[in-house]
Amino acid sequence: MWKNLMRPYVRPLPQWSTVAVAPPQQVVTATLHWDGKSEDVTEDHTVASLVPLVIATSLDAGQHPVLEYRDSATGRLLGVLRLVKTASIATEKTSLTLYHVAAGEHRCLGWPLRPWNAWLQNRLMLKNRSPHHFAPEPGAVQQLMIAYLCPRPVVLVCVDTPGHRNIFPMDLIGPLERSGLFSLALRNTNVSVPVMREVRRVALSGIPAAMKAVVYKLAEHHKQPLPDWNVLPFSVRPSREFGIPAVAAALRIQELAIVHSREVGSHTLFLGRIVSDENLAEGAQLHHTAGFHQAYRRRDGTPFAEI
Ligand SMILES: Cc1cc2nc3c(=O)[nH]c(=O)nc-3n(C[C@H](O)[C@H](O)[C@H](O)COP(=O)(O)O)c2cc1C
Repeated sequence: MWKNLMRPYVRPLPQWSTVAVAPPQQVVTATLHWDGKSEDVTEDHTVASLVPLVIATSLDAGQHPVLEYRDSATGRLLGVLRLVKTASIATEKTSLTLYHVAAGEHRCLGWPLRPWNAWLQNRLMLKNRSPHHFAPEPGAVQQLMIAYLCPRPVVLVCVDTPGHRNIFPMDLIGPLERSGLFSLALRNTNVSVPVMREVRRVALSGIPAAMKAVVYKLAEHHKQPLPDWNVLPFSVRPSREFGIPAVAAALRIQELAIVHSREVGSHTLFLGRIVSDENLAEGAQLHHTAGFHQAYRRRDGTPFAEI
């Protein structure tokens, strides 16, 4: 009993919570506010880079907009990111705006737990930091967790050429609704980045929540290509137009024709058009959200199913 009461004061919450959500998530609404205007960007914003932390949207919301995340059911404010415009990308008769995250704050925990939990989390990040490893500053990770208040779906991305094949998990993905584009933010060091820039086509498999363990194992393929499709512990099926091997048990397989790519800080932002979209099964998809968001929902009696 005492142990449970004291736990939040001695141990930080996990940064991330892996949860099962039926797509598309509608539990959290994201709204951009600027110059007296507001627009819903739940399906129109994505993370473009982690270092620095950059958000992309197809709206031009001026120089200093505020991005608000609210619980869709109650309207309660969950978190806020303060943005500063850094660049525009013009491609395919449309344009996107890139915003640097200047500040952020969440409301998922009350005072004094909110600053205390952040302090515990930041201390742990600094302790586990390796000098040779890519890692954003703890303050930026706190802001990233706010961007994950909208639970982010996990997909497996498949690339297939005669000389290179690969499959790896991604969650820095999403539609940029108003432009009709779909984005992927991939670390510049990912082994498939040069191939994707050249072949300009990938298949995305929406992953059932039950496949969490196998998906995490495939994270190693951010660094090394797949030797052969036969080594995978699950079956693949060809995607509809491109014939790229994709996950047979996927909830959905989408093919993306890449129309633009550019480096944004630590990541390469790929922008594409969905050329085919096969809905194969109903069910809960693997998603990531912030640990403090799950703690908020647990307190509220509406936790996500955790996996
Ligand atoms: C579920 C999941 C989703 C991921 N999503 C992305 C992503 O969207 N973009 C990206 O560059 N890397 C993504 N990664 C890769 C990780 O950031 C990391 O590069 C990989 O796990 C290798 O980790 P290491 O560099 O710590 O060894 C993802 C990994 C996992 C397990």
